[in-house]
Amino acid sequence: MKEYKIAVIPGDGTGPEVVHEGLKVLEAVARQCEFKYTTQHYDFGGARYLKTKEVLPSTAIEELKTFDAIFLGAIGHPDVKPGILEKGILLKIRFDLDQYINLRPIQLFDERFCPIKGKGSKEVDFVVVRENSEGLYKGMGEFQNKDTSDEVAIQVSYNTRKGVERCLRYAFDYTRKYGKKKELTLCGKTNVLTYAWDLWERTFNEIAKEYEDIKTDYTHVDATTMWFVKNPEWFDVIVTDNMFGDIITDLGAMIQGGMGIAAGGNINPDGVSMFEPIGGSAPKYTGKNVINPLAAIGALAMLLRQLGENSAADKVEAAVKTVVTTKLKDLGAGRMGYSTTEVGDLIVQHL
Ligand code: IPM
Ligand code: MN
Repeated sequence: MKEYKIAVIPGDGTGPEVVHEGLKVLEAVARQCEFKYTTQHYDFGGARYLKTKEVLPSTAIEELKTFDAIFLGAIGHPDVKPGILEKGILLKIRFDLDQYINLRPIQLFDERFCPIKGKGSKEVDFVVVRENSEGLYKGMGEFQNKDTSDEVAIQVSYNTRKGVERCLRYAFDYTRKYGKKKELTLCGKTNVLTYAWDLWERTFNEIAKEYEDIKTDYTHVDATTMWFVKNPEWFDVIVTDNMFGDIITDLGAMIQGGMGIAAGGNINPDGVSMFEPIGGSAPKYTGKNVINPLAAIGALAMLLRQLGENSAADKVEAAVKTVVTTKLKDLGAGRMGYSTTEVGDLIVQHL
């Protein structure tokens, strides 16, 4: 019997509540699909930082490298200045474990939950492959003449040929394996950002020659947000840089029914990957048993697929779909018609 080692970082706010439901589902599906696992919990997050003044212990990264996967709840605390936990925990893990892909499926299960009229599960069903290790997130830049009237703040988008190429290759391979229409769209800004997007576009066109079975397309990022609302059915797989990927996947989350359902994976195809609900720590709902755990449960399904437990992943995804379409009144916190723990129980019942 296979046995996996899973690191669990419940994190802040509602993170622990949704992770708890995810682990409940993991336990049930492992029994059905006959694999074993052990979990180790880590208390990284705002509460620990406020107590110890340390964002991550110095051994954390090396320890995390010994797991088969990481399951994360949410990072973000109202009493900690924005940026500290994000940079010190979330982005640090993404970068140091070289999780260079952020994979974000945009899938609507029921048209009742789409804010765009006339769009249902057939129309909203695509995937964003977001570069996750470079771009503006590299944090390159400087202040000049700080705190004077001549102050300049420079923030650089850093794109390497190797970084761009590995992301594009992942996206082409992903499209070949999972794309419904075998169509990959590059989302950029070639008309203004003429260094970064020249490199991206040249590399994209070069690699495309190796994938003759994949249809390719290009859209500017601003137009992409327009098409998400007007014609989401046009998309199959989209590949883009870190910043644009961050922005368009929040819009994507809304058209798939909201943050309550949006899951993502930070993937290192040759290393340790980390899966998370993409919504934040939702402090105002903390401890109320009202937050929707389905984004975390969807992230768990992605984790299972990454481990190679495909039938377990299929079961969890099918259960999410059934529960969303036949049980829930809404996908938002406090409006589901069920509590957080009841939704977790429903998924277990429908496995
Ligand atoms: C996300 C989040 C993070 C990001 C923040 C919390 C650093 O918005 O996962 O999309 O910008 O990547
Ligand atoms: Mn984001």
